[in-house]
Amino acid sequence: MPTLKDSRGYFYIRTFGCQMNEHDSGRVKDLLLEHGYSLCEKPEDADILLFNTCSVRKHAEERVFGRVESLKALKKKHPNVIFGILGCMAEAQNDSIFRRLPHVDFLCGPADLDKIPEIIDRIKKNKSHIMHIEGFKAKRIPEFPKGRHVRDNAYVKIMEGCSNFCSYCIVPYVRGLERSRPSKEILDEIKLLLDKGTSHITLLGQNVNSYGEGLKEKVDFPELLRKIDKTVGNKIKIDFVTSHPKDAKTDLFKTMASLDSIAKFLHLPLQSGSNKILKKMNRGYTLEKYKKLAKEYRKLVKKSLFSTDFIVGFPGETEKDFKNTLKALKDIQFDAAYIFKYSSRPFTKANEFKDDVPEEEKERRHAMLLEAQRKISSEKKKCL
Ligand code: 5AD
Ligand code: SF4
Repeated sequence: MPTLKDSRGYFYIRTFGCQMNEHDSGRVKDLLLEHGYSLCEKPEDADILLFNTCSVRKHAEERVFGRVESLKALKKKHPNVIFGILGCMAEAQNDSIFRRLPHVDFLCGPADLDKIPEIIDRIKKNKSHIMHIEGFKAKRIPEFPKGRHVRDNAYVKIMEGCSNFCSYCIVPYVRGLERSRPSKEILDEIKLLLDKGTSHITLLGQNVNSYGEGLKEKVDFPELLRKIDKTVGNKIKIDFVTSHPKDAKTDLFKTMASLDSIAKFLHLPLQSGSNKILKKMNRGYTLEKYKKLAKEYRKLVKKSLFSTDFIVGFPGETEKDFKNTLKALKDIQFDAAYIFKYSSRPFTKANEFKDDVPEEEKERRHAMLLEAQRKISSEKKKCL
């Protein structure tokens, strides 16, 4: 690690939330390193403290508020220390963050993360409470330096934002509408990672199956996978998240089956086993359509793994709806399932619905699904 003499200062970065955030934080690290800053592991050693945040559930936001609040003494001790809140929560909470956490200097949404060095320079010139937020209107994908500090596992973003507007989800409002990166840009990034010796790449997008929409070139997700396979040969393994059941098609499964570099793994969030709830969630498919897809995937992609997400306690979810979800989980026999308790989010359609499933009931449904999946996963492991 360089000494402070040859560094512009130390930065600390803490990430909350999903793989997309992990990836964004990695790129912010690369950017600041390129600008002459040095990374440190402890907040107490930092001149700049960054928190890359998640808004997908209320609990995630409360954790960030708690953590940043607990560090405010650092600012008292060293008034020149800079605090920045990055990512989804900067968009979702905007200036209310300055009210709750007055020691925070700047907010920067996901579309502007490449502007952080410039924002820091402005703060050093005695500016404060800077906001770079675009939300829903965000059109950019931040442009980061080509150089990357990764070796074994790397993320490559193929698209940003989401235009699906699932009624519970804040993502379109904080990451903006969906936009894809041109395939050449993606392939160039993958080639660089290949040269660095990366052995595993995860392609990231909120709905990878609609990759290519809005681009000048004619390319869809299976075609992108074929291009990537041609580039990497058998040198690395590629996987991808997240797929959407309304857009995942036979062509994707056939492509996955035919390309050696592509991992035989699909994460396909079902969210609920009740058609009434799926409709209220604006998911665009029925349980029957999902089951057909699952069957087709397993038939075409041999020795494959299959995982999903569920939300319990969505507004209006009755015991009967929940039982349908439990039955779907058992019928489909996922290798893994991530289960979340519904949390009402600002801006979303579901925020207008009455959050009428009591917390204890959400807890009970959550525990039941977890237990059912635990049994399935352990049975599956025995058969390996
Ligand atoms: N409440 C609970 N879970 C949510 N998810 C998204 N929004 C919410 C919310 N408001 C879950 C979905 C999604 C996963 C990433 O997070 O299951 O697939
Ligand atoms: Fe949210 Fe739905 Fe988009 Fe996923 S597909 S990010 S759940 S709006």
